[in-house]
Amino acid sequence: EKGGYDHFMYKEIMEQPEALANAMRGRVHADEGTVKLGGLEDVMKQLEAADRIVICACGTSWHAGLVGEYLIERFARIPVEVEYASEFRYRDPILNENDVVLVISQSGETADTLAAVRQAKEAGVLALGVVNAVGSTIARETDAGVYLHAGPEIGVASTKAFTAQVTVLAQIALLLGKTRGVLSDADLKENLEALAKIPTQIREVLEQQAEKIEAIAREMRLAQNALYLGRGVNFPVALEGALKLKEISYIHAEGYPAAEMKHGPIALIDRFMPVLFVATREATYDKVVSNIEEVVARGGSVIAITDTGNRGLDDLAEHVIEVPKTSDAFEPLLTVIPFQLLSYHVAVMRGCDVDMPRNLAKSVTVE
Ligand code: F6R
Repeated sequence: EKGGYDHFMYKEIMEQPEALANAMRGRVHADEGTVKLGGLEDVMKQLEAADRIVICACGTSWHAGLVGEYLIERFARIPVEVEYASEFRYRDPILNENDVVLVISQSGETADTLAAVRQAKEAGVLALGVVNAVGSTIARETDAGVYLHAGPEIGVASTKAFTAQVTVLAQIALLLGKTRGVLSDADLKENLEALAKIPTQIREVLEQQAEKIEAIAREMRLAQNALYLGRGVNFPVALEGALKLKEISYIHAEGYPAAEMKHGPIALIDRFMPVLFVATREATYDKVVSNIEEVVARGGSVIAITDTGNRGLDDLAEHVIEVPKTSDAFEPLLTVIPFQLLSYHVAVMRGCDVDMPRNLAKSVTVE
C-alpha cells in the first residue's frame, strides 16, 4: 500500500508527477491551446463577471490559496483575497452579490472551511470548491468546483495535494484570463505548454536532487530553528516549507517574504540557524541575492533553491539546489519539492513518525 516505500508521505512526494498529470488530464490541451474545466461550465458566466474572489482555506491549502491569489490576479486581473477559513467565519465578512467564495480543501471535511461555504451560501454568494476527496461534504455543499484527482493522500503532511491544488488554481486562472480577454491566445498556449511540462520537471527534481537533499538534511537535522524566505509567488512556498518542517520534524521554522527579514527575523541569524531561500532568476532575483548576502555577512548558513544552471550563488550559499526553469508563475510547483523532501529526510533522521506526527489529525473536523 505504501508502494514499496517506508512512508506514505514519501510515496506521495514521489507520485506527484502522476498526480499532477491526473489533475490536468482532459483539461489542459497544450497543443490546441485550450483549457476545459467541466465542473465550472455551469457557473462560468458568473465567475467571469466576479468583482472579487475570496479564497478560504486552512494550513497547506491556505498556502495554495496564496499562490492562487497571485495566479488569478496575474492572469485574469480579478482582485483576490485569501482568508484563513477559521477567521473568516467569525468576522462577519462583507460579501457582495458579485463576489465569489472559493474554498480549497484536500479532505473536503475541514470544519472551518465547510463553515465558510455555508456562510457564502447564506449570503447568497456563489461558493466554489477545489477539493480532492470525491463526494466529501465540501464537494457536496459547494455550488460547483474542480476536483484535484490527485488520489488519496494518507500522510498527515500534505504534499501532492498542495501541488495539485496549485495546478488546478493555475488552470482556473488561465481559463478566466482567456474568457475575460486578458490573455491572448498565444500567451494562453505558452502557459499551458509550461504547465503541461511540470510533471516531467518534477520528476527531474526528484531524481537529480535527491542525494544532495539527503546530505543537506543530515546537516540540518540538529537545528533548533530554521528560517524560510521567498518573494512573490515563492513567498507562499517559504510558508509551506516552514510548515512542512515544523509539523513532522518538530524543528521550529518560520516563513517570511525575503524583504521582511530586516524588519525583525534578521535578529535571529547566527551560524546555528539554517536560512532557506527560494532564489530563482525572476523579477526580484537581485534583491533576494542582497538578502542572501546580508545573511552570510552575519555568519548565517544559506541553503538556496535556484533554477538550473545558475552558478551565481555558489560562492554565497552553503548548498544550492537546482530546479528546472518554468514560467515564473508556476515556479511554486517546482520550488516546493526540495522543501518537501528535506522535511521528510530531516524528520526520519530525527526518528519522528512522519506519517502520524504528534498532535495532528489528517482532517480537522472540529474547530
Ligand atoms: C499540513 C496539513 C494541514 C492541512 C489543513 C487543511 O501539511 O496537512 O495544514 O492542509 O488541515 O486540510 P484540508 O485541505 O483537508 O482542508
